[in-house]
Amino acid sequence: MSKCNITKKKIDAFMTFGKMPLANGFLKKIDFKKEKFYNLDVGFNEKISLFQVLGVPKFSNTVYKNYPFFTNKSVYMIRHFKKCAKWIKNNFLDFKSNLIEIGSNDGTMIKNFNNSSINAIGVDPAPNVVSFARKNGVKTYNIFFNSKNIYKLKKYYKSTKVIYAANVFCHIKDLIDVIKCVDYLLSSDGYFIFEEPYLGSMYKNISYDQLYDEHIYMFSASSILRIFQLYDFELIDIQSQITHGGSVRYIISRKNKNLIKKNVNKFLKYEDLNNISNIEGCLKFKNDCEMSRELILNKIKKLKKKNKSICGYAATAKSTTVLNYCGVGNELIECIYDTSEEKIGKYSPGMHIPILPMKDFKKSNFDYAYLFAWNHKKEIFGKEKKFKKKGGKWLCHVKI
Ligand code: TYD
Repeated sequence: MSKCNITKKKIDAFMTFGKMPLANGFLKKIDFKKEKFYNLDVGFNEKISLFQVLGVPKFSNTVYKNYPFFTNKSVYMIRHFKKCAKWIKNNFLDFKSNLIEIGSNDGTMIKNFNNSSINAIGVDPAPNVVSFARKNGVKTYNIFFNSKNIYKLKKYYKSTKVIYAANVFCHIKDLIDVIKCVDYLLSSDGYFIFEEPYLGSMYKNISYDQLYDEHIYMFSASSILRIFQLYDFELIDIQSQITHGGSVRYIISRKNKNLIKKNVNKFLKYEDLNNISNIEGCLKFKNDCEMSRELILNKIKKLKKKNKSICGYAATAKSTTVLNYCGVGNELIECIYDTSEEKIGKYSPGMHIPILPMKDFKKSNFDYAYLFAWNHKKEIFGKEKKFKKKGGKWLCHVKI
């Protein structure tokens, strides 16, 4: 059992993914013995329809010391944020408005406001990505976005027109603290806009690998509406996004400041009808995950019996959940190719599959490649056409 920080209610786990290392805990051989594990249990807070990982390990924050993920590694994400910046500018900002991005990473999104009248700043806890952002001319505060640090942003007190976050809110355990910080910074007519992987998409894709120590929450319109209602904010609009296998962008404002768009009600109705707002959906998801594990394990084992070789493509944080939940080690998947300098030469968390440089994938001759970055499939299939031409096949637990 675990206490949810919002309702202080004890939440029971409805399922466990078992013993799990840190999702981004890629490690060297000499560190195998020091590796730490926790139980990846998940629960559902029925009061606020919130799907959450329970008992996030205290040691999980260490990943931000040298964050292994740079947004600019994906051409699609660069394009996505360019489009998003334009949309924010056209719909929410005025001349010389203040904009703050929480979890601004390498500055990919904020960079779009360089050379404009907008005073756009980033906030990110990881020094390595922040140093990259600063080199790109993006003003960034190297801090965790929390009430302990918020005084460092006091010049933006109640004067920030837009606070934006992408794939960040679900990483922060203390949601109340974030909301308090948003309240501190946001102007009376300001907007908190954030986008996160969508619970409904996770159910549909059975993409349980969205769950790990850094992805604590899976949001829905129902949960966001209920959470923000508790703090005098209002969900005024909602938009589907194709990123990360199905995300949703939420637009929040202070109460009674804006008309609520029809979309919000549409989403809420859809979620009630499809058990996304209640525990029924969780129980179905549990069965779906167990079946998915059986299916993919059988498939991999069958291929190995036929002497087929299998490598992994992209050492994502998500891959840690799949490999450890399914118990797949390097006897089944020989290696994983990845573009990140921070991961190459190390081993995957828990299952210790070697991570090799992506440039070697092209020279390799694997029969199958397990696509761990299925959320970037369009981009990857586009650049890896030769693999298919050579007779290579893609493999994944998610339909690709
Ligand atoms: P992503 O799915 O964005 O993130 P997460 O780690 O949060 O699950 O994948 C990022 C990782 O995938 C990163 O290690 C780089 C790698 N990657 C590649 O190696 N090649 C690619 O074409 C893409 C899109 C990602």
